[in-house]
Amino acid sequence: MIERSGLRVINMRALLSFFMLIAVAVVVKSEEKWWSAMSLYQIYPRSFKDSNGDGIGDLKGIIDNLDHLVESKVTAMWMSPIYPSPGVDMGYDISNFIEIDPLFGTLEDFDILLEKAHKTGLKVLMDFVPNHSSDQHEWFQKSVKDIPPYNNYYVWANGTFKAGGTRAPPNNWVSVFGGPAWTWNDQRQAYYLHQFTPQQPDLNYRYENLRDEIKNVLRFWLDRGVDGFRIDVINHVFEIQSLQDEPLSGNTNDPNNYGYLNHIYTKDQPECYELVRQWRELLDEYNKDGEHERLMVLEAYTDINLTMKYYKFGASFPFNFGFIQRLNADSSPADVKFVIDEWMARMPDGNTANWVIGNHDQKRVASRYGVERAQGIIALLLLLPGVLIMYNGDEIGMPNNYVSWEQGKDPQGCNAGREGFEAASRDPFRTPFLWDGTTSAGFSTNPNTWLPVNPDYKSLNLEVQKEAGDSQFKFYQTVAELRSWPTAQSGDLYTYVISDNIFAISRILGGQRSIYLVLNFGNELRNEDLTRKIENIPGELIIYRGIGNSDLPYGSIIDSKSAQIPARGAVIYVTPEMSRKFEVKLL
Ligand code: NOJ
Repeated sequence: MIERSGLRVINMRALLSFFMLIAVAVVVKSEEKWWSAMSLYQIYPRSFKDSNGDGIGDLKGIIDNLDHLVESKVTAMWMSPIYPSPGVDMGYDISNFIEIDPLFGTLEDFDILLEKAHKTGLKVLMDFVPNHSSDQHEWFQKSVKDIPPYNNYYVWANGTFKAGGTRAPPNNWVSVFGGPAWTWNDQRQAYYLHQFTPQQPDLNYRYENLRDEIKNVLRFWLDRGVDGFRIDVINHVFEIQSLQDEPLSGNTNDPNNYGYLNHIYTKDQPECYELVRQWRELLDEYNKDGEHERLMVLEAYTDINLTMKYYKFGASFPFNFGFIQRLNADSSPADVKFVIDEWMARMPDGNTANWVIGNHDQKRVASRYGVERAQGIIALLLLLPGVLIMYNGDEIGMPNNYVSWEQGKDPQGCNAGREGFEAASRDPFRTPFLWDGTTSAGFSTNPNTWLPVNPDYKSLNLEVQKEAGDSQFKFYQTVAELRSWPTAQSGDLYTYVISDNIFAISRILGGQRSIYLVLNFGNELRNEDLTRKIENIPGELIIYRGIGNSDLPYGSIIDSKSAQIPARGAVIYVTPEMSRKFEVKLL
């Protein structure tokens, strides 16, 4: 057994290959950090709640509805960008890093939000977008005019000339949303780099003045009292200085498709990690007494090794997208076990795990796993050790909503053209929150909202679910309640493949009641002898909660040799009495 300051892990890398055979035990010691077991709720401000009837959500809408976060038992929130923006990439094209877009409110509104959230016990993280600004940002406007020091704030390069004298970009790089990553600027007589849309020029982190400027942006929000940052696409921030061509991936012949190249020179450069280290130092200036660590949560879609490396450079945690990218409705218990065990085993010593349910860039969990299975998956993530990250609407099971080409807003969808729009657009994951059965689902008094409201909102909304005897929201709430038990906060974790369709975890803490969650991925009710695979499971268990069968007798005692798990459902059991802590033996 290897001792860690925050964790003791029994099976490390060497045992990764045995994951399928054994019950992996991850022993979680109770942590002192304020955020070690937090539930972090992502608000997509445009779609959360509109207070002024313009059809777009705003800060006042959030302020007036913080109670929902409390009722959802979350402890912190992060908001997608609320800064001034032309809205080309829905706010991820920022024209002023230290202001609030009038669409959402004012800096005063922001201060009120922060104060009210803090009084309510909620921490607030800003979305910080360092890779690029809007082309409407004053810095870019000055850079175009070659005014020092702004002339060096962006990545400018001369083009090349093809035979015949036609000008061409400096290299073959492709933007994430498709098309060349370079756009010619007549005034500056040079190309500028943009890894996303042409309206999102990449900032030049090789220039010290720019790095300092960005640090001042962080300070601006820290001085206002924010509790940390969710940092956007950190692994895109540096590109190789030589600007050499990226190798072809062989996956597509379309040179305008992002998948055309292996992005070895525009992503995951070593300098990204060094920047994270510097930002950690800055954040720690605000935690001199060690009382209130400021969070640095990183978004980086990359492989597991490069992801884990961010922990070592001072990230509170890099997002764990395993349940988004690597698992879906077709995954087996062994797949799920692997994804959980791998993260726990690979995470560097003393760090905190995290589990992302969804976000504004990904299909909603109810649509990825199916409405029924998704609830079991949410329960699973609520009961795993570490931080839970959820996306507004997932607590009531909002699925993707149809958005037509004409209604589309997302540049990733619009760039794909009418034919490709549906497959590429992220709009369906971003439609308004469904509060109640009134106009626009109570999101806005305006019947015309920036993206369409789900037409099923009369029956699928928070109010209906709160009033129903049983509902997805009530299920979510009771599991979130269980998450606050000491066992769920700091108990040891065990993961089990019980059978072809049955997956289970247990959480065990000495002197406390144990928790077992059993998930059925199959389409038939299963009667399982849990004692076959779960060593030391007591003969009798209490049904805490379940999903997939409304007749489950909550609170009644069952025999662990015949646990009934509904099709596509899940059951959570707790032990009747205090469990004695036992030494873990590998099966
Ligand atoms: C990541 C954000 O999550 C996504 O919505 C955005 O389009 C890109 N960064 C570019 O800023």
